[in-house]
Amino acid sequence: MVVLDFGGQYAHLIARRIRELGVYSEILPGDSPAEEVLSRRPGALVLSGGPMSVLEEGSPRPDPRLLDSGLPILGICYGHQLLAHALGGVVRRSPRAEYGGTRIIRRGESRLLEGLPDEFTAWMSHGDVVAEPPPGFSATAISESGLIAAMEDPDRGAGVYSVQFHPEVAHTEHGMDVIRNFLLSIAGLERDWNPVSRIPSMIEEVRGMVGPEDSVICAVSGGVDSMTTAAIVHRAIGDRLHVVFVDHGLLREGEAEGVLRALGELGIRNVHFVDASDRFLSALRGLTDPEEKRLAIGRTFAEVFEEVASRVRGAKFLAQGTIYPDRIESGASGRGADRIKSHHNVAGLPERFGLRLIEPLRDLYKDEVRRIARELGLPDYIVDRHPFPGPGLAVRIEGEVTEEKLRIARRANAIVEEEFVRAGLYGAVWQAFAVLTEGRWVGVKGDRRELGRVVIVRAVTSEDGMTADWYRIPHDLMARISKRITEEVPGIVMVAYAATSKPPATIEPYRAARPPSTRPSPCR
Ligand code: XMP
Repeated sequence: MVVLDFGGQYAHLIARRIRELGVYSEILPGDSPAEEVLSRRPGALVLSGGPMSVLEEGSPRPDPRLLDSGLPILGICYGHQLLAHALGGVVRRSPRAEYGGTRIIRRGESRLLEGLPDEFTAWMSHGDVVAEPPPGFSATAISESGLIAAMEDPDRGAGVYSVQFHPEVAHTEHGMDVIRNFLLSIAGLERDWNPVSRIPSMIEEVRGMVGPEDSVICAVSGGVDSMTTAAIVHRAIGDRLHVVFVDHGLLREGEAEGVLRALGELGIRNVHFVDASDRFLSALRGLTDPEEKRLAIGRTFAEVFEEVASRVRGAKFLAQGTIYPDRIESGASGRGADRIKSHHNVAGLPERFGLRLIEPLRDLYKDEVRRIARELGLPDYIVDRHPFPGPGLAVRIEGEVTEEKLRIARRANAIVEEEFVRAGLYGAVWQAFAVLTEGRWVGVKGDRRELGRVVIVRAVTSEDGMTADWYRIPHDLMARISKRITEEVPGIVMVAYAATSKPPATIEPYRAARPPSTRPSPCR
């Protein structure tokens, strides 16, 4: 499957849903030339949502030849409007913008909506609307306010279908059924995609790249992506893999030990471990601004990493755990412009040392990496652990990072994790952690009153970290966390809970504000 990306924030979600159903999918820019799209030999096309209006000049369009390519096509949101506009229907500014959960009422027969109830709730986010379907199309559903919610012409080529709502988001009832109907019964695709079956070819690819005398450096952070990368490269070239693990002193409790243990269990022998906590702490001394802290961490990391890497003989390659969403930023302008998040290019090393990159996971999503990791024998405490930011606890400590504040933050974070695990809810959230603020609160212990610190607990649910909802934490779990933190962590007298989703708030509190994001605004 090819998902043509018109800049909606949901293109990755669509591609992932398709893969979840067992069909391999890739994202290409919406205006890719037909040759480029067809060279992937897709079995069907999806036109994604996007922030523009088809009524605006210069808004992105698919190559018209694709609409006549004879492939089954599914348009979603902006993609639905594009199809109407391109095939002779009428698109207008909507009299009422529809956002959020909306009742959808079916009308007549529909191959796309087959098996769905007569009414269901779907997620909408649009300002334009298809006022008249193109000739040959019938409207197969309307929204509660009477606007066209779905249309189809099964006889046009191999069938053209579209929906105004977002079947890919979890809030849409039967959304997966819509995608399944399109993939399996309309496009007739086989469910043959299984990331685990890719392992042998990933190993072969590494063998093909790396010469018999060459070595590969792989920096691991403890995260599942870098550990899985190391495991694959190790299977390919054995001891010519050199793993570098820098402990910057900002890790979670027990993390360094866990990573070293896991590397040992994988049989990786060339492990260059550096405990550089003191060096990072000195670099952070006196810094209070998140951006300055992040830069100091990045700089120090580069120095330490370079020292270690320069001792590895014959190193020609750097293996890194770049995954698909890191590489293909949905809505990125410029065709084929792979955008690698800068923090993934470890310490600028590839450029400085002329190292070539090995990125075995570059086409995979996180959940797929987890399946591969499990297959390769990585332990659960690596595979299932919550994502953790590169600059570590520094982004969870307000103001200057000192040894004392690190101790507090590390313990408080560990307590949150332990209690989520004990409640059986660790896997129910994307992340759960504690934040050490500069806020003060008066504490009372017996007759003594003294000023103490405030810790904020944050737990969120999310599919990919791009958007997140605050987790409705059970009160008794919150009570246990609060009691333990105030009792066990010196200096903390108040525990609060962060009850705000993303947007408007980011997940991590003291992260550097990125330069203006290229991420698109929500789909129309
Ligand atoms: P935000 O804070 O942007 O977090 O809502 C989204 C996801 O990214 C992680 N995160 C980071 N990861 N370096 C990283 O490697 C960072 O500076 C950073 N800031 C946030 C965060 O943990 C969440 O999963």
